[in-house]
Amino acid sequence: MLQTVDPRTRQAEAFRMDVWAGLARRRKALPSRWLYDDRGCELFEAITRLEEYYPTRTETAILQMHGAEIAAFCGEDAVLLEYGAGAALKTEILLDALDAPRLYVPIDIAGNFLKQTAARIRQRFQRLQIRPLAADFTADFEIPSGVPLTPRVAFFPGSTIGNLNEAETLAFLSRMRAHVGPQGKAMIGVDLKKDIPTLVAAYDDKKRVTAAFNLNLLARVNRELRGTFMLDQYAHEARWNDAESAVEMHLVSLQCQRVTVDGRSFAFAAGETIHTESSRKYSPDGFSGLAQHGGWRIRAMWTDPQRRFGVFGMCAA
Ligand SMILES: C[S@@+](CC[C@H](N)C(=O)[O-])C[C@H]1O[C@@H](n2cnc3c(N)ncnc32)[C@H](O)[C@@H]1O
Repeated sequence: MLQTVDPRTRQAEAFRMDVWAGLARRRKALPSRWLYDDRGCELFEAITRLEEYYPTRTETAILQMHGAEIAAFCGEDAVLLEYGAGAALKTEILLDALDAPRLYVPIDIAGNFLKQTAARIRQRFQRLQIRPLAADFTADFEIPSGVPLTPRVAFFPGSTIGNLNEAETLAFLSRMRAHVGPQGKAMIGVDLKKDIPTLVAAYDDKKRVTAAFNLNLLARVNRELRGTFMLDQYAHEARWNDAESAVEMHLVSLQCQRVTVDGRSFAFAAGETIHTESSRKYSPDGFSGLAQHGGWRIRAMWTDPQRRFGVFGMCAA
């Protein structure tokens, strides 16, 4: 008889494996996807409202300002696949602008939060069919059968693409192309290069909400993997990595210490860090080149007057 594994069990196992492997590395690192449990998603929403965090309000303004053109690009009857949907607040703007969207598939690794988002969108857009899908977009997965193939439009806002390295970005672009099919389109929100103090401040706010978001990863390890991290012995740090053109988030160990995670022990030197997220920043040409390399044709870049953020409209063929 075929045995099915509960997706939550599979996710818990994947989390344990990533934490064990990441803490055993010479340069400790944890994949940023694990920042988003229920508490992490709530904290991220609080980040989007901070003065320093310009990406959300800038992308929101772009979608509002260019709604008619974006709707014309997406076409009628769109089947919208959204990667890393989160609270999908900006998606409401897009759904309002679109001409009779047929179906919405929000995709996110944070399953509980996704359910809440789907329920809110269902209430707000009562004629729209909604098929939420809990999945990790950095691995291969199928779009459920029954989701019409045309006309599919992928939406990947929030500059979440910046959390992927170059190899992951190319793999993601090709996965997304397979999901939408040869007639498909995509819209990707990309944070653009700008002065370094503005970039770093967006990940190191005065109210310390981003610090709480980053430290919640250790709290999650403690909650879900019997971890023994002492949260007051780690500090949040945001730093610019010029070679990678990325703002990196780290957790710095404030002293020499040892932790255990589900029975395995890991040593920290004072000042040693765990790298928890990179947020890559692109020039318009840099992102266009990468997307073209990933098999996409760029049709438009909608931007704000200060060119802080770009929403790229792209075709699969
Ligand atoms: C930066 S937030 C953006 C949220 C929202 N789209 C926005 O624009 O405000 C990233 C979102 O992607 C989700 N996410 C991160 N890594 C993921 C992965 N590997 N697979 C699926 N979802 C992921 C998170 O749970 C979170 O909701």
